[in-house]
Amino acid sequence: MLFTFLTLFPDIVNAYSKESILGGAQDKGLVKIEPVDFRDFTRDRHRTVDDRPFGGGPGMVLKPEPILDAVEWLERRDGPYRKIMLTPSGKPFDQKMAEELSKEERIMLLAGRYEGFDERIREECEWVEISMGDFVLCGGELPGLCVVEAITRLLPGVLGDSESALQDSFQNGGGLDHPHYTRPRVYRGREVPQVLLSGDHGAIEKWRDKAARERTHERRPDLLPSSNKNK
Ligand SMILES: C[S@@+](CC[C@H](N)C(=O)[O-])C[C@H]1O[C@@H](n2cnc3c(N)ncnc32)[C@H](O)[C@@H]1O
Repeated sequence: MLFTFLTLFPDIVNAYSKESILGGAQDKGLVKIEPVDFRDFTRDRHRTVDDRPFGGGPGMVLKPEPILDAVEWLERRDGPYRKIMLTPSGKPFDQKMAEELSKEERIMLLAGRYEGFDERIREECEWVEISMGDFVLCGGELPGLCVVEAITRLLPGVLGDSESALQDSFQNGGGLDHPHYTRPRVYRGREVPQVLLSGDHGAIEKWRDKAARERTHERRPDLLPSSNKNK
């Protein structure tokens, strides 16, 4: 899968995506993450990507020409992309969206800065507008990297144990994950639940299901199918 990341800060994208799971997935040839600096698509001497807002007010707005020229150039080079605009006005990102997007061949991510995008950028292309939550960051690089990582870890061959992504929280519309334990068996007087040491895989699975349901009910009842909300 190809991720092309339109940004003014390609080094941020490179620094994160060459490490750990994303770095490994790139080394294995399972994904390619290519940052593209849309400042390279400016045509003036000062390489201007932003300008003052019409109507006045604080901050600067990202101009349409460099971004849309970059999008068109990339689609001529590679073919059509599923295009994602990172914006606080977008749909809150979740696991279901990651699952859907993991079926794409090419994804383009557009990271804003300053006050955000000139509205014509939104109007000129078909964007999936994604928000990382009800808070405002300085740029779309971190939200974009969250999207890239959430998708990449779902791709076959990326995680060492392919089962592990299936068991995570939210997978397939599910609730939260169950608690996990490792050695030592007793830590500061706190013991690992006996059932996990029993070797009885049926009993372990039952315990994990129940613990996950209880945790979801307690912390995120909104994730339970409505019929289960009152348990
Ligand atoms: C300072 S923000 C612009 C905020 C914008 N004026 C607003 O109030 O919605 C600059 C850029 O950061 C990114 N950004 C900030 N917060 C975000 C969030 N919660 N989700 C996705 N992207 C975000 C977007 O790409 C945005 O264009």
